[in-house]
Amino acid sequence: MMLHIPQVLTRSGVEAVRAIIDAGDWSDGNATSGVQAALAKKNLQLPLDSTAARDAGALISAALERSLLFVAGALPARILPPLFNRYGPDDAFADHIDNAIRVMPDGSRIRTDVSATLFLTDPEAYDGGELTVDDTFGVHQVKLAAGDMILYPSSSLHRVEPITRGARTSAFFWIQSLVRDDGRRALLFDMDMAIQRAALTLGQGDPAIITLTGGYHNLLRMWAEP
Ligand code: NI
Repeated sequence: MMLHIPQVLTRSGVEAVRAIIDAGDWSDGNATSGVQAALAKKNLQLPLDSTAARDAGALISAALERSLLFVAGALPARILPPLFNRYGPDDAFADHIDNAIRVMPDGSRIRTDVSATLFLTDPEAYDGGELTVDDTFGVHQVKLAAGDMILYPSSSLHRVEPITRGARTSAFFWIQSLVRDDGRRALLFDMDMAIQRAALTLGQGDPAIITLTGGYHNLLRMWAEP
């Protein structure tokens, strides 16, 4: 499932994050790549342990906790601290699948189930730079407003198209989900959204809503992993 989450950051939130990271020390983006990905990637990245990445990451983590759509769509168990990248003229990241396992700051390991890109540059400011994702339903090209985020399965083949004008700055991170399987996560999300919509007209106390809500939670109980 691919999920567009509008306005994870407000306009002033984007400006606050950009003020922090734009003043940071950017370095070659291959520091976080596996050997094979490094061959295909050309961009800049804020070092993981830099003050700028930590401070801006904290603003984004707080915004994620407030986003009901993010929680419903990702069903997060653990979230890696956000990283930041910048693609300038001729930069790109060719087709790849993200590493399955990543290391948290405390040294523990998480499985990457969901990948997230939070756009921090308005689309008018650059040409190219689309995030292209091949999932089971076809090829999707994504270029969102600053502050908007896309979630996609970490198992999908994806790339960042070459930049032909301007620069594209984004935050990106991975989520280990309570529900590992993308199809199950998508089903739970669709159910959750449909129940919420139906409850608006029927009311939370309607017997059908109570049964459907119970069904949602019983599926989640069955599928949730520790
Ligand atoms: Ni990737």
